Amino acid sequence: MSVDTTPQKGIAIAAEHVSKKFGHVQALRDASIQVRYGEVVGLCGDNGAGKSTFLRILQGIYHPDSGRLYIDHHPVTLHSVRDAQRLGVDTVHQDLALAPELSVIDNMFLGHETLRSGILGRFGVLAHKEMSEKTDAALRELSIALPSLTVPVRDLSGGQRQALAVARAVMWSRSAILMDEPTAALGARQSEIVSQLIRRVAQSNLGVLVVSHDLPRLLTFADRIVVLWRGESVLDEPAANLTVPDLVATMVGYRSGEAI
Ligand SMILES: Nc1ncnc2c1ncn2[C@@H]1O[C@H](COP(=O)(O)OP(=O)(O)OP(=O)(O)O)[C@@H](O)[C@H]1O
Ligand SMILES: [Mg+2]
Repeated sequence: MSVDTTPQKGIAIAAEHVSKKFGHVQALRDASIQVRYGEVVGLCGDNGAGKSTFLRILQGIYHPDSGRLYIDHHPVTLHSVRDAQRLGVDTVHQDLALAPELSVIDNMFLGHETLRSGILGRFGVLAHKEMSEKTDAALRELSIALPSLTVPVRDLSGGQRQALAVARAVMWSRSAILMDEPTAALGARQSEIVSQLIRRVAQSNLGVLVVSHDLPRLLTFADRIVVLWRGESVLDEPAANLTVPDLVATMVGYRSGEAI
C-alpha cells in the first residue's frame, strides 16, 4: 500500500510500512494504515498482534524502526505525545486518563497545559467562565448530557466518563483521534451510546482510529477495518464487506499452515 498525500484525498493520519522491534519481538512488520477525515477505521487483531504498539507510534510514544508517518497529508516525525498533539492528534486512553477528584471542566483541560498556554493563553490566564463555556460547547456539540460540569468525575457513570474522555480529545484535536478499546469496560447500553458518539466525532470531520476486540460492534460503526496479524497489516476492507467470522479467520491464521 502507498499513502496518497494529495489534499483532496483527505488523509487525517497514516502510517506506511512501519516496523518496530522490542528486543527479539517483532511487534510490527511493514504495517500500514490510513485514516481519512470523516472516517472511522477499526483496528483489530489477536492479543499481541501489535495494535497498541501501532497506536503508540501514531501517538508519538514509540519511535518506529522504519517506515513513514503522515498527519494531515504531511510526512511527520514524532518525538513525543506533545508533537502529535501539536499536529492535531489526540488520544482516548484505555484508562481514560481522567482525574476523579477534579470537575468535568478541569478534566477537559487536563493534560493540555502547554497547548492551553499556547493557544488560549493569548488572553492571559484562562478564566474559569471561559473554560466552563468551552466545556459546555464541546459537550453540546456531541450531544453529551452530563448531570453538571462542576461535579467531580468520580460521581459520573462509566459511560459518562468515556463520553467525557472522547469530548476532551475532540476539543483538542484537529486531525485525528486514536482510541484503545473505548467500549471494553462498558455495558451494552453504554457501549451503544459511545459507538454512536464515535460516529458523531467522525461526522465532525476528524479521522478516528479505534482499537477494539468487540468485532460485532466495530462492524456496526467503523467504515473500514484493518487487521493486524503478528505485526503485519494483512487486511484493509470496507466494514460493509466483512463479517465477524471473516475477521476472526483473518485474525487467528492469516496464511494456511501458519495458524496458531
Ligand atoms: N514496551 C514493550 N517492550 C517489550 N515488548 C513489547 C512492548 N510493547 C509491546 N511489546 C510486545 O509487542 C507485541 C505486540 O504487543 P501489543 O501490546 O502492541 O499487542 P496488542 O495487539 O495491543 O495486544 P492486546 O490485544 O493483548 O492488547 C507483544 O508480543 C508484546 O509483548
Ligand atoms: Mg493492546
